[in-house]
Amino acid sequence: MYSKLLALLNKPEIYEGNEQPFWDDKHISKMMLQAHLNPTLEAASRTAEFMDRSARWIAQIAPPAQFKRLLDLGCGPGLYAQRFYRMGYTVTGIDLSRRSIRYAKDHAHKEGMDICYVCGNYCQLDSKEMFDLVTLIYCDYGALCPSDRREVLRRAYASLRPGGRMILDVFSRAHAERFSAYQVWKHCPDGGFWREGAHLVLEEGFLCPEHVIGRRIAVVTPEEESVYNLWNTCYTPQKLQEETQAAGFEVCGMYGDVAGAAYTEDCDTLAIVIEKR
Ligand SMILES: C[S@@+](CC[C@H](N)C(=O)[O-])C[C@H]1O[C@@H](n2cnc3c(N)ncnc32)[C@H](O)[C@@H]1O
Repeated sequence: MYSKLLALLNKPEIYEGNEQPFWDDKHISKMMLQAHLNPTLEAASRTAEFMDRSARWIAQIAPPAQFKRLLDLGCGPGLYAQRFYRMGYTVTGIDLSRRSIRYAKDHAHKEGMDICYVCGNYCQLDSKEMFDLVTLIYCDYGALCPSDRREVLRRAYASLRPGGRMILDVFSRAHAERFSAYQVWKHCPDGGFWREGAHLVLEEGFLCPEHVIGRRIAVVTPEEESVYNLWNTCYTPQKLQEETQAAGFEVCGMYGDVAGAAYTEDCDTLAIVIEKR
């Protein structure tokens, strides 16, 4: 028992992946959708109030009149996509979660919104369409391993017309500096976020070199044990600038968040507006 548990809790190599799905897991995606749809909860999506402000700001710096065709990477259940559509963009959203895409499509159909939702991996994006604006919102970029980050930027760049823009956000270096390592366990006899039935969660959060935050979550049920590794690379403006420039983009602006706050070294996030020249 002791050695089995230790093996589950063994710290992973940096950016080690998962053997089973996370975003598209049948139960986890259900819990995630509930979190997305809670307008006051800052968890899977930010609050509705923030998303309203954020969409308005995006429409100011890349107005639909000049940046009509918008591609939202990691659109989830379409909370931003709906807002963009109402502002006059022609919207395509892509997401890994079948449950979120199903919800997004049903919602668009009910509301009579002509939004194109696609279930897929944006690291394998192979769009025949050209876009004027690409968004990747809520720090998803930093959750990717370095090769996936290069891939998503390369593919976003290829899908933009010259002069097209991309907007993304990440956690900042200050966020990593405020982070404290932790170890917690939780018993969920009636099910919870990770499993529908009884389960035990053993979780560790740790800081790796280069301001990468790692989380190792071991989920133990009466029938099986699984582990999940989640990552967040935290950025300085310089590091984000270097990565996006390496993909061919030119930097138009840096902000403290995707609602256009001024960036200071204390900001928890960092948002960048980049352009294909
Ligand atoms: C933190 S949520 C943010 C959702 C949305 N951008 C928002 O702000 O409401 C991250 C989303 O990205 C999706 N996702 C993660 N990795 C992905 C990938 N490689 N390809 C497509 N979608 C992905 C997840 O399924 C999830 O819906």
